[in-house]
Amino acid sequence: MLIGEKKIERPLRWAMIGGGRTSNVGYKHRLGALRDNTAYELVAAAFDIDEARGREFAENLGVDGSRSYPDYRTLIQEEAKREDGVEVVSIATPNSTHFEITKAALNAGLHVICEKPLFFEVSEGEEIQKLADEKGLIVGVTYGFSGHPLLLQMRQMVQNGDLGDIRMVELQYTHGFNATDAGDKFAEGQKWRVDPKIAGKSFVLGDLSTHTFFMSELICPDLKIEKLLCDRQSFIESRKPLEDNAYVLMHYTNGAVGRLWTSSVNAGCMNGHRIRIIGSKASIEWRDNQPNELTYEVQGEPIQTMIRAMDYLYPECNEYERLGALHAEGLPESWANIYLKFAIAIDAKRRGDQETLDHLVYPSLEYGIEGIRWITNCVKSADAGSTWVAYK
Ligand SMILES: NC(=O)c1ccc[n+]([C@@H]2O[C@H](COP(=O)([O-])OP(=O)(O)OC[C@H]3O[C@@H](n4cnc5c(N)ncnc54)[C@H](O)[C@@H]3O)[C@@H](O)[C@H]2O)c1
Repeated sequence: MLIGEKKIERPLRWAMIGGGRTSNVGYKHRLGALRDNTAYELVAAAFDIDEARGREFAENLGVDGSRSYPDYRTLIQEEAKREDGVEVVSIATPNSTHFEITKAALNAGLHVICEKPLFFEVSEGEEIQKLADEKGLIVGVTYGFSGHPLLLQMRQMVQNGDLGDIRMVELQYTHGFNATDAGDKFAEGQKWRVDPKIAGKSFVLGDLSTHTFFMSELICPDLKIEKLLCDRQSFIESRKPLEDNAYVLMHYTNGAVGRLWTSSVNAGCMNGHRIRIIGSKASIEWRDNQPNELTYEVQGEPIQTMIRAMDYLYPECNEYERLGALHAEGLPESWANIYLKFAIAIDAKRRGDQETLDHLVYPSLEYGIEGIRWITNCVKSADAGSTWVAYK
């Protein structure tokens, strides 16, 4: 169980790029990184495209104004001159900027924690992989929903054969907040999401389904997609060619099959992860609006609800337990868990502790690249008239 004690020798000197006052996701990064007060110290920032607003915000959060920078280049350059300069940066800017900022940070010897979807092209991911390896640096990806402890219970149940052979994977991440085009016109954080130059080749496939896809990889590490078929729609015409709804069918190499639905036009839906794994003996199902409960259905037996933090769960699940039974956990703890794992990975990399790195289950660069591969294949299939495409 985690009770906030330090896991690494001292907090990492940390900066944020993007994630300023008006951003959707910035606070979640700070919630995750600073929750335990032992893994990160926020010492610098280039929070905002608007320099004055960024500085005012940084000072409000207690960052020294002289270390609030107008842009990421100045941050990297000025921090490199300091003995106590930053060691790790988080990138929470719109998608089109991720690649160039990651590359610049790695070249300056900084570890990187970057938002999803990581980059636009798999080749960019491979270039960054090579650079990170050469420099001995970690790149983590903030699949922020993936730190819920019960997802690790699901992983253990699948790996231990509790479900039998895995036959079907049912994935859903949908909401209805873009059922009209109001946000596309007026909301700072939505306008760029439907602009291919900034968002990339997809809207909801990148914005939403990369989370769910990673969670399926986390739960079923042995399932590899052989081929997929994607059908994508733009119910709001002005979003074309970007989709606001998509269905994907998957065939896995071991004969299992899967289905994913992602949408931001599922009117009336306020939160929307649902993951159901169906085996030859039993099924498990988890939803993010009830993250403390896991449904376990054994064929021919009464349905069971497993509750977070209970002793009957696998130790690998309870290792990332924070509050104990009786008290509900949610998204902040999920983010804190993935940020803690990034810190453990960075610390292990610096110490050359390969064993820790080999056993740490977290959203690493490899999974960020898989997210790009997923989007690329889905778009390729959809744009070829929804035909099956070989995955690799
Ligand atoms: N992991 C998650 O759960 C999650 C949730 C939401 C968004 N995201 C991702 O986070 C990223 C940001 O999304 P958002 O919704 O917060 O966007 P947003 O538009 O709401 O906020 C972007 C922030 O970055 C700043 N910014 C923009 N360009 C910048 C630059 N070049 N340098 C410094 N700051 C810059 C803006 O001023 C703003 O503060 C996207 O890649 C998105 O896909 C992830």
